[in-house]
Amino acid sequence: MSAPHIAAERLGADYFQDPYSVHARLRAKGPVTPVIMPGGVPVWLVTGYAEARAALADPRLSKRMPGWHPEPDSIIASMDLHMLNTDPPDHGRLRRLVNKAFTARQVERLRPRITAITAGLLDDMADQGAQRGQGAQRGQGAQRGQSEVDLLASFAFPLPITVICELLGVPPADRDDFRAWSATIVSDIPAPEVFQAHATAMARYFMALLAAKRQQPRDDLLSALLAARDDEDRLSENELVSMAFLLLVAGHETTVNLIASGMLALLLNPAELARLRADPSLTGSAVEELLRYVNPVSNATFRCAAEPLELGGVRIGRGDPVLVSLSGANRDPARFGDPDRLDLGRDSSGQLAFGHGIHYCLGAPLARLEAGIAVSGLLSRFGSISLAVPAASLRWRPSTLIHGLEALPVRLAP
Ligand code: HEM
Repeated sequence: MSAPHIAAERLGADYFQDPYSVHARLRAKGPVTPVIMPGGVPVWLVTGYAEARAALADPRLSKRMPGWHPEPDSIIASMDLHMLNTDPPDHGRLRRLVNKAFTARQVERLRPRITAITAGLLDDMADQGAQRGQGAQRGQGAQRGQSEVDLLASFAFPLPITVICELLGVPPADRDDFRAWSATIVSDIPAPEVFQAHATAMARYFMALLAAKRQQPRDDLLSALLAARDDEDRLSENELVSMAFLLLVAGHETTVNLIASGMLALLLNPAELARLRADPSLTGSAVEELLRYVNPVSNATFRCAAEPLELGGVRIGRGDPVLVSLSGANRDPARFGDPDRLDLGRDSSGQLAFGHGIHYCLGAPLARLEAGIAVSGLLSRFGSISLAVPAASLRWRPSTLIHGLEALPVRLAP
């Protein structure tokens, strides 16, 4: 990396727990500052809103590191060639292959199914309380008729993973395997042997699944992509496995955190929660403000300067890695007044939780639909929702990409 004019700050474990105060401190030095990532890599971190938006739209910031290629036939090579890792023209070719399945219009057709999956999960959680009411063994602190559940494992995770599995044609029964593999892959500090084992398991899983679908195509997205591969030669074998990997990981790692961290934000801001309960028509704008406030994807994926450039008064050298902080941008007081306050009535448009530019989230309409159904479903089913542990004891996952809780224990009552 080119020599920074200010000393690089090393990001430690406290960054996973609370990225916002670290960003505020860095932003006070400048909108673009050098940092050393928890894994030891030096990068330029962009925490200013205007600079983040400019960086995400800047074609000089490439998704490929100059001169870097994965070992051919390696596991990394088999999952590396997806749209989020490519520049034009490959990016456009890959994105167009799946774009139609994710338009707002197409996704709206999934509403009845998403509502049904949500209702099933709400029933399961309510049943736990009903069983308690009938005298079954009580959990710690839970009252008669009250359920005590990990909202993340019982609701926020199964909803989006079931939806994306059904869309792709992946057996939902395997979802706990993906959860473990994917958590390792997006972690900043996995043990190298665990990373290798889980990445290999994920790649082999998709290779086997695609081979089975080639024999017996179904009415699902992966079968459609196989046809594009086999009949029209529009995608290579590695691009096919990479696409399946990206859609599955991006399709659930993110929305789970919008639902879980979003509910936590509401529980910690009871006046806002009451406001939403009193006026369910606020749901759409509430989801937008929750996106701005909870930032399921804390930092965008890495970019690399394909040529020297200037950003936020800083000179970035060719080959320098740049990390655009979406959570930093979304809490920049120069763009959103009183940014650390959750305000469901504010105008959150322009929030960068889904990114910006050509890599703007493909799944944004699906994520918004799922989150709206999930939050309104929870609030209408349970008149009382409260944290079952002190907020200070909640732990966040060790990832600089994803900002998500490890677990969210809550008490629910009708
Ligand atoms: C709350 C939920 C979600 C959030 C916050 C989110 C966030 C993001 C962000 C920030 C990016 C751009 C990253 C970058 O530029 O480095 C992105 C890209 C992407 N997202 Fe999402 N996402 C969500 C849900 C989904 C869902 C449900 C899918 C479904 C498949 C999805 C699929 C994708 C894909 C395929 C890309 C790559 C687009 C491209 O490179 O052109 N996302 N997402």
